[in-house]
Amino acid sequence: RIAGPSALVLFGVTGDLARKKLLPAIYDLANRGLLPPGFSLVGFGRRDWDDDAFTEQVRSSVEASARTEWNQTVWDQLRGGFRFVSGGFDDAAAYEKLGEVLTELESSRGTGGNTAFYLSIPPDWFAEVSQQLVDHELAGRDLASDRPAADRPWRRVVIEKPFGHDLASARELNDVIEQVFEPDAVFRIDHYLGKETVQNLLALRFANRLFEPLWNSQHVDHVQITMAENIGIGGRAGYYDGVGAARDVIQNHLLQLLALTAMEEPLSYEAHHLRAEKEKALAAVTVPEDLSLACARGQYTGGWQGGEKVVGFLEEEGFNPESTTETYAALKLDIKNRRWDGVPFYLRAGKRLGRRVTEIAVVFKKAPNLLFSEHDAENLGQNTVVIRVQPDEGVTIRFASKVPGTQLEIRDVTMDFGYGHAFTEDSPEAYERLILDVLLGEPPLFPRHEEVELSWRILDPFEEYWASLPDQPEPYTPGSWGPASADALLERDGRVWRRP
Ligand code: BG6
Repeated sequence: RIAGPSALVLFGVTGDLARKKLLPAIYDLANRGLLPPGFSLVGFGRRDWDDDAFTEQVRSSVEASARTEWNQTVWDQLRGGFRFVSGGFDDAAAYEKLGEVLTELESSRGTGGNTAFYLSIPPDWFAEVSQQLVDHELAGRDLASDRPAADRPWRRVVIEKPFGHDLASARELNDVIEQVFEPDAVFRIDHYLGKETVQNLLALRFANRLFEPLWNSQHVDHVQITMAENIGIGGRAGYYDGVGAARDVIQNHLLQLLALTAMEEPLSYEAHHLRAEKEKALAAVTVPEDLSLACARGQYTGGWQGGEKVVGFLEEEGFNPESTTETYAALKLDIKNRRWDGVPFYLRAGKRLGRRVTEIAVVFKKAPNLLFSEHDAENLGQNTVVIRVQPDEGVTIRFASKVPGTQLEIRDVTMDFGYGHAFTEDSPEAYERLILDVLLGEPPLFPRHEEVELSWRILDPFEEYWASLPDQPEPYTPGSWGPASADALLERDGRVWRRP
């Protein structure tokens, strides 16, 4: 699957995401031979740069963060297609120039006019950029309309979260984008969907006989989805204050993981089938009536983490020292359908926790254990299938086994599958996979606007509830597993969080 002739226009080239992820991913794709020879990259931004200065910027990002080795031939080929258009996002003259550059690349690099516009910029700018693209006839709707549809160059837009702040703002944003681009030309990035293990969830569930018969309320006790990070939020005040853990990662990454874990088998891997099943799962999610018993939120304090002294969230530079933004959030959700009725899904995400780990744990009901002593039965845990999204990608299954010896003693053991051990192939970075899919026009890994709106519908009541509380989020110490109220959330149900 090699991308066809194309160019990518990157808005927001100096942002964190572009420098750390997008530019290195483009180089890695070229290095893996997945981009066409004339692939071109156009940076668009306010810097007063020429093509050479832009090339330097790309090179330093690649040197710092690319996953593949340096290859001079690949680089020389790639850099021939680097262009920079200097201007503000509302600067009509710059879009004029962008149009000329895209035409020039068509003849000099053979891009065929096919162009993806990657908006790695704050969403407040989406409307303006979209309008400018239309005004300068760059958005594609009327492009070469005299030619048969198959011969027209394609134009696509890639947008990054946050897709709004709540359901109402997400709808407005979707309207703005879809007025300009056809829904099929809009690629919403949720980089978790580009991760290998997330895709493997489909293989695990639907390419095996073993799991699916048990994957329901008859056998599953509950599901825990965890996204723990050990980093703090320093340096991201502009984005994070007022957003918080739930909007930052639960609304998107964790609810996507929930949808993939809970959905029915899609008719095929085609985007509309896959999205339809995810949407059905999300639409069946209900929020418990008494929210005071169904969620927890916290803020990390200062302290020590891994031998390093770290400041508390409220002391981080640029944040309002009275900010009520949460850096940890846990929710309990129910799914009202035949498969999952009565099986709670607990979601939690936080910064400055014990370690970096993202996992989905499907915890099964206890076996009757009539055969073994009461003591054994009590000590036994519950069978669990853990899908480790990162790091150390793989799957662990926990089950009971006899302890060697003359006694009939039973203990829990684990069976482990690790990508690193089982395969020699290297997993591409999520952004590599997703950028390639944009250029190929393959939409299965991109949520459509219905999914985004359904996810806000789930989160909004929790956000409203938190906003109504007079108190600060509960403090928790760095390196811990979050606030005590999160433990209480499960204890009330007679359960405990896993310690990954
Ligand atoms: C982003 C969030 O979407 O995901 C960040 O905005 C978070 O706050 C990041 O740190 C984590 O991504 P990953 O791929 O490192 O798990």
